[in-house]
Amino acid sequence: MCNFGDSDKDGQIKLAALRDLATEQWKRVMSQAANHCVWSIIEGGEPTSRKDILELLQHLKSIQLPATLITNGSLLHKLDLRELKKNTNTVCCSIDSVREEAYCKVRGVNPAMYHAVMNNVKMLGEHGIQRAINAVITKWNTEEFVTGEYFDFVTKELDIHAMSLTFVEDQPGSSHSLSPDLYMRKKVAKAVIDYTRKNEDPFIALPTKYWEQILEYGHTTFNECGAWKTLFVRPDGSVLMPCFRFDLPENRMSILEHSVEEIWNMPQWDITDDCHACEHLACIWFSSQGISTVAEPYIRGVSLLIKNQLKGMNFS
Ligand SMILES: C[S@@+](CC[C@H](N)C(=O)[O-])C[C@H]1O[C@@H](n2cnc3c(N)ncnc32)[C@H](O)[C@@H]1O
Ligand code: SF4
Repeated sequence: MCNFGDSDKDGQIKLAALRDLATEQWKRVMSQAANHCVWSIIEGGEPTSRKDILELLQHLKSIQLPATLITNGSLLHKLDLRELKKNTNTVCCSIDSVREEAYCKVRGVNPAMYHAVMNNVKMLGEHGIQRAINAVITKWNTEEFVTGEYFDFVTKELDIHAMSLTFVEDQPGSSHSLSPDLYMRKKVAKAVIDYTRKNEDPFIALPTKYWEQILEYGHTTFNECGAWKTLFVRPDGSVLMPCFRFDLPENRMSILEHSVEEIWNMPQWDITDDCHACEHLACIWFSSQGISTVAEPYIRGVSLLIKNQLKGMNFS
């Protein structure tokens, strides 16, 4: 389902070894980006498959650029988790389904991997690492969100209390769709709205408006796409202008050879002025929203933090 993935895993690993930037090059890119960015998101591919991942996270910490690591969680047991804790702000694991069969189907892995990932997520809690999960809703995992089984499992079994959710964005040009049909999309949206109204745990970091738009129109809406707010650097150091859907040679510029200002001044960014091709992708929708929409989960989150702190101080 991932626009940056490849079903040929061996081929992908070989390509990565050949094309991906070396440690020092990444450090340079990170330092360059730090002059323009307020936050970094380390994703992939799978970032923990790099042997130097902790060194790169340490570099981000040393230049004071906050970092969220997005990972499939499969290799976390191989990392020094004390170092991971020191050098990340949040570790976000992708848990698309809490049911073994659906998880394996979506991720293309065997049951042993499902159990290994669940154990690794629990380990984050045991090490006191600030953590969250992300789930992508496809036609294979709708039911667990409708019944609330997913939310119960992650809070009780995985000790996860913050999460984000998105409907899958089908791959451009793909002949098969992973998206649930309209009826199911609306059913899930209604269930998540009801869950968020009645429950604070897990904290769902997506504004209710996302689900309300799915209920009303079957897809999300926004005026101007916010993809330009992100400097998206591919593993080979090229910046995509403006995003994955326009991944053509003429829309890539190497951040090793050009300054951020030069890249920023390219006309391709204007594509975001009136492109509305992403119908469900929560991160794109979120970055395209006005302040009042973004403020809603922020206020919910802050009030929850205060409430929990008061409880801890025995004021409740
Ligand atoms: C690009 S992935 C890479 C990071 C890491 N390898 C992982 O599996 O989490 C980052 C996030 O995008 C989500 N994602 C991948 N394909 C998607 C799609 N077609 N629609 C919506 N989200 C998607 C993943 O589930 C993951 O949470
Ligand atoms: S809406 Fe268009 S410009 Fe924005 S991220 Fe999606 S494809 Fe790119």
